[in-house]
Amino acid sequence: MDIASNQGPAIRQRAFDRDRFVEDCVSAHRADGMDAVAEVLAEELKDHRAVLRALGGPTRAGLDVMHSSPDFTIFAAHWTPQMNLLPHDHMMKALIGIYTGREDNILWRRGDDGIEAYEANCLFEGDVAALPANAIHSVTNPLQRFTGGIHIYDGDFFETERHQWNPETLAEEPSDGDAIKAMFAQENQRFFAQRGI
Ligand SMILES: [Fe+2]
Repeated sequence: MDIASNQGPAIRQRAFDRDRFVEDCVSAHRADGMDAVAEVLAEELKDHRAVLRALGGPTRAGLDVMHSSPDFTIFAAHWTPQMNLLPHDHMMKALIGIYTGREDNILWRRGDDGIEAYEANCLFEGDVAALPANAIHSVTNPLQRFTGGIHIYDGDFFETERHQWNPETLAEEPSDGDAIKAMFAQENQRFFAQRGI
């Protein structure tokens, strides 16, 4: 996982504009692929507070879809406090940029006997991580507050057949957009039940 850090002081003070951001990403993707999109995302996240102001603070687990097409997907993902997401792959290149909170990643790889963990990375506000197409990761929000990140995929995230691994047995299972959405729904049940809402 390559990580570009943006944790220094913000050096850019223009407001984040959701529609312009999507247009910039689509244009960059069309012209030069995911490396160019990573530059757009990193530039925006130099002022991650502006992104948070524009998108709003997360209040529940979920995906705020900003762009979805057969070759490109952009959404903001919201993790509840201390939410865990089991190991999964994307089957396409991915970018993650954090605009509030934190996201701890464990990276896994296929071995002779299932998957094995081999690396961990903490993504802080302003960081942008690039995952290769064969990446497998599990994700934790270690904080007592919500985490929000912009996730960008080099393909159709919602219509691609992918894989996930049972966190207890590490058995491989099929996954897709519906499976991810069901996980978020389950997480909201847990989160709101804990708070008696
Ligand atoms: Fe992921």
